[in-house]
Amino acid sequence: MAEPSSRSWQVFLDVFEHLPRQGPGNRASTARALALCADLTPAPAIVDLGCGVGAQTLDLATLTDGSVVAVDDHGPFLERLAVGADALGLTDRVRPLCADMAATGLRPASFDLVWSEGALYQIGLENALRICAGLLHPGGHLAFTDAVWRRDDPPAEVRACFGLDYPTMGTVDDDLAVLARCGFEPVDHFTLPDEAWWQDFYTPMQARVRELRQALAGDREALDVLDGLDAEAELHRRHGDSYAYEFFVARRASDG
Ligand SMILES: C[S@@+](CC[C@H](N)C(=O)[O-])C[C@H]1O[C@@H](n2cnc3c(N)ncnc32)[C@H](O)[C@@H]1O
Repeated sequence: MAEPSSRSWQVFLDVFEHLPRQGPGNRASTARALALCADLTPAPAIVDLGCGVGAQTLDLATLTDGSVVAVDDHGPFLERLAVGADALGLTDRVRPLCADMAATGLRPASFDLVWSEGALYQIGLENALRICAGLLHPGGHLAFTDAVWRRDDPPAEVRACFGLDYPTMGTVDDDLAVLARCGFEPVDHFTLPDEAWWQDFYTPMQARVRELRQALAGDREALDVLDGLDAEAELHRRHGDSYAYEFFVARRASDG
């Protein structure tokens, strides 16, 4: 995440640093994707790219006996993850790493599983998938979520909203094609359920926005950011059928 420079960015972070997660997802979906990774060793070496405060990092550490390197470039998210790992007695198996996921310095071909929820698009999906392939040993698994269009004709306001953050967003088939180009064999994919948007993401986000509206009353720039976040949740309520978060599970092709 780029370092904050403006008041708007500070307010945005003041919302997101206090949320249980920074994008749609939930433990059940993480567990479902993990179960699709066949033949995974009981104690896999996992890297979680763009982990945020690490909701799914901690789920992976509790759902397996493995170790997780949790990568994010925003230090305060990792500080919260470290507190969460400590509370669960997982500090020996969860290693926060503050780094750009495009240049982690992690040893190539050293992971059984690369994980990423809602983050790979930030460095360009194809670029990111090539980096994931490089981190995995041949036959290793990749699981990631990505926003995809569900309709050819999404409403203009939805296109405008996603166009700002993710101008190259495609369809499920587009992502499957990128996976194939990057040397992955698809295993399966599924759509995140509605509760992964509302219970785990937008409901806490809207509660935090309400708190800050009181604390920041009179601060026009701050209120504009909070209005924008409420508008995004409302857009999802009205037009969530136009797009989805898809969970993809794939396997790095074995060499030779
Ligand atoms: C939408 S949030 C998802 C966070 C978390 N995976 C979740 O689902 O709750 C995307 C995360 O990617 C991180 N991020 C964005 N660009 C990054 C980069 N180049 N390197 C590392 N982390 C990055 C952000 O700081 C943020 O925590």
